[in-house]
Amino acid sequence: MTRNLIIPGPWDDPDDETPAYGTRFKAHKQRKAQARAGVAKQSFESNADVQRWLRESSEGEGARAPFAPDALVGRRDGPWVLSSLTSFYEQELITDVLREVKSGKEATVFCCSGGPASGAELLAAKIYRPRMFRSLSNDAVYREGRTVRNESGKQVKLTGKGIPSRASAKGRAFQVSSWISYEYATQELAYRLGVRTPRPYAQTGNGLLMAYIGDAHTVAPRLAEIEVDRGVAQDLLDGLLEDIERLLGAHRIHGDLSVYNILAWEGQAYLIDFAQAVDPRHGDDARALLARDVARVVAALAPFGARADAHAIADRLWWAYLQG
Ligand SMILES: Nc1ncnc2c1ncn2[C@@H]1O[C@H](COP(=O)(O)OP(=O)(O)OP(=O)(O)O)[C@@H](O)[C@H]1O
Ligand SMILES: [Mg+2]
Repeated sequence: MTRNLIIPGPWDDPDDETPAYGTRFKAHKQRKAQARAGVAKQSFESNADVQRWLRESSEGEGARAPFAPDALVGRRDGPWVLSSLTSFYEQELITDVLREVKSGKEATVFCCSGGPASGAELLAAKIYRPRMFRSLSNDAVYREGRTVRNESGKQVKLTGKGIPSRASAKGRAFQVSSWISYEYATQELAYRLGVRTPRPYAQTGNGLLMAYIGDAHTVAPRLAEIEVDRGVAQDLLDGLLEDIERLLGAHRIHGDLSVYNILAWEGQAYLIDFAQAVDPRHGDDARALLARDVARVVAALAPFGARADAHAIADRLWWAYLQG
């Protein structure tokens, strides 16, 4: 293998101070003495320091080959996805991208193999699209009525027709990464509270890394895609209502709970997609969002025989919350 090596070291360091004349003269005398004693002049490459440096750099190269997952080859958004996943790769949280799981409205989710720093076999990386970071004025996200929040969950007030038309690209990127941070922080909080949700591992400007729900062959279906066994429907519903209550106790409402944002796997229901989470202290229409989340989970499991009074539960949760 031919490589161009620029080897750092005192021998070619321009900042290195030139030794005093006396020192140089001593070294010269030493070399002459070594030559007289039959000691061969050491070549540059065989210098122990150089050898060690060469060994270390090639070991490093072997261990961290450039990240170029086959699964991203030929994708139009390949470079974009790669730029966010590379940071997870460099932190040794993932080792490869195995496949795309699903492309949603705002983001694409990929199944990745876990690395030593995560200790997980499979991980899910949710990468937001570039579209989300582009100019606000023609952004479908706003037309779809997405609520924009800053890092602490406060709703960002929109001007004019609801759209700050001249947000700079940088400002825009900051806004988007703030709400992704908020999504991540909410999922972390939920996980710590014992809410059934994929364990979150890391976040970059445009992506989240979390536990993958499913196995090597199958991704966990969304509640919308399955028939729930009548024997477990009530337990699932009770568990979901508990999760809603736990979150509320920590000042969070999921805000977009539906059969599309609940995964079912091995008899458990997992909440995902905290992108619309709300902190009721910030004066949004929190009570209505709570009531909607409750009503939707009750409706989702009603066809399988689970029963609960959505109105009464939402009222009880809200009053208990207000009373601290
Ligand atoms: N941790 C996970 N494990 C397995 N699959 C996941 C995971 N997270 C997300 N998914 C899959 O990716 C889909 C999209 O994820 P998510 O809902 O977070 O993004 P989204 O952009 O809001 O998508 P959508 O517009 O479909 O709601 C989910 O419906 C689910 O099928
Ligand atoms: Mg979703």
